[in-house]
Amino acid sequence: MCGIVGYIGHRDAFPIVIKGLQRLEYRGYDSAGIALYDGNKINLSKTKGKVEDLKNKAKEISLEGSIGIGHTRWATHGVPNDVNSHPHYSNSGNLVIIHNGIIENYEAIKQELTKRGYVFKSDTDTEVLVNLIEEVKKTEDVKLGKAVQIALNQVVGAYAIAVFDVEKPDEIVVAKLGSPLAIGIGNNEFFIASDASPFIEFTNNAVYLEDEEMAIIRLGKEIKLRKIKDDSVAYPRILELQMNLEEIEKGGYDHFMLKEIYEQPRAIKDTYRGRLLADQGLVKMSGIEQNMEKFINANRIIIVACGTSWHAGLVAEYIFEDLARIPVEVEYASEFRYRNPVITDKDVLIAISQSGETADTLAAIKLAKEKGAFVFGVCNVVGSSIARETDAGAYTHAGPEIGVASTKAFTTQITVLTLMALRLAKAKGEFSETKYREYLTELETIPSKVEKSLESNALIEIIADVYKDSTNCLYLGRGYNFPVALEGALKLKEISYIHAEGYPAAEMKHGPIALIDEHMPVFVIATKKGHYEKVVSNIQEIKSRKGKIIAIVTEGDEQVRDLADHVIEVPETLESLTPLLTTIPLQLLSYHIAVMRGCNVDQPRNLAKSVTVE
Ligand code: G6P
Repeated sequence: MCGIVGYIGHRDAFPIVIKGLQRLEYRGYDSAGIALYDGNKINLSKTKGKVEDLKNKAKEISLEGSIGIGHTRWATHGVPNDVNSHPHYSNSGNLVIIHNGIIENYEAIKQELTKRGYVFKSDTDTEVLVNLIEEVKKTEDVKLGKAVQIALNQVVGAYAIAVFDVEKPDEIVVAKLGSPLAIGIGNNEFFIASDASPFIEFTNNAVYLEDEEMAIIRLGKEIKLRKIKDDSVAYPRILELQMNLEEIEKGGYDHFMLKEIYEQPRAIKDTYRGRLLADQGLVKMSGIEQNMEKFINANRIIIVACGTSWHAGLVAEYIFEDLARIPVEVEYASEFRYRNPVITDKDVLIAISQSGETADTLAAIKLAKEKGAFVFGVCNVVGSSIARETDAGAYTHAGPEIGVASTKAFTTQITVLTLMALRLAKAKGEFSETKYREYLTELETIPSKVEKSLESNALIEIIADVYKDSTNCLYLGRGYNFPVALEGALKLKEISYIHAEGYPAAEMKHGPIALIDEHMPVFVIATKKGHYEKVVSNIQEIKSRKGKIIAIVTEGDEQVRDLADHVIEVPETLESLTPLLTTIPLQLLSYHIAVMRGCNVDQPRNLAKSVTVE
């Protein structure tokens, strides 16, 4: 987690670094800091709190200089406070560093450096690293770049770092292992960041460092890339970025989350554009076509993911088994990798990740690859680590998702996974042509049906006001909508801090029913297709225990309307596509409840969007 930003060029570094940090706050926001070089000395300011707090605090230092590095933190080692915030100085005060990641063996290095007279002000692993670099520089009598390379060979862990040395004032040295690092290449200026959003208005050209690569970024020179292991030369691959500024701004919405909820019709369309050719009865996905044999002959598909992406994986389990008749197992990446799983070269592993950086998902991929499985990625962030690490993949085209609580990533992941399942079902001959075409045509109507679902916003706001002070909530769904219940509960927990649990509706009687009384709101997904009658019975059971029922129903439903305290309608669609619609009101409900409770919707406490620690 954490976001890092750097600039070296001819403009004022301060506004660039600050704005860049604000764009990266989704990665962590418990403290922030900046170091600027004014041509003579380093001026540093850091503080607990958000980048806005840093902006105010930084008035105490000189803001001059066209070289700067900054950091927004999600604490790992050491509580969030001013001292533990980055950047960190080395003991001499000559070096400053920013770091995203964890140095696992920092304790041992710290002890060694302490013996040699180093003192540490903070509890961080990062301060240990910058002093290790200083020590190497001194004892080996080398320049900054070489010292970084030698020092990094002594550390175990993950990092994206940027280091500046007053003795080399025309360069910044960066390195990457495990955490992302992009370099924007402008006209005689360079930008450094955890993703490309901080520099998108300045340049479309970027180099993404690979793991175990470092770069010396020197003014007036081309970027020099080296392998950390042996200092051999590596060659930069310059990518042309597609992102635009509008996509990463709020565009008139109060919060990114609301903007992203409303972007879903467009995002789903962008995700199937060029892949879903309903009029020709075709699904075209190059990642699938090129690896068709692997999928068709797979013993099973293993899906690994975390958080909301894991919920999309659960929906995919229903879709792949139901449509393509391929056995599927869905695993939390963090559990999968540590339980010595049985994986063979007949398995296909699908990794789902919005950010493409989640450490556990990445580690699960590496494990599956080692065991010979074919690994397919479903990511949103182009060029991300998971996108690069997988054998093949399909991007969602959701556009940048900034709100920490995932919304459009979820529905676009389901869209991609549905397309994949449909293509495989067709290849395996599981479908008649008529049925196949029915699916394709229906999928094409989903964006307009999502739009229709969004029209319930005003009603949802009224319902949110009724339940905003609840302390517990239950979410129930069956079949395809069981994962939607989990996702609905997660959304509420994440942003409003109300305790919520999702359950398969029928499991309610094996425990959760004991919790139901007149104070318990129960959100039930009760769409017409998908065990409707059974869910109606569950609703009756809740009602007879005086629970409050808020039901998501199919347009025109009368039966549930008579039973429930509130109903929210979504348009009718095929059962397998219902999650794309039923999830919308649950997102809006969480959003409004969180706003009414005064919570920070886009940056909920303790969370981060990109979890690059295990
Ligand atoms: C974090 C985010 C969640 C996200 C999860 C997995 O917990 O707050 O919104 O679902 O990570 O992230 P990924 O980028 O792998 O989808």
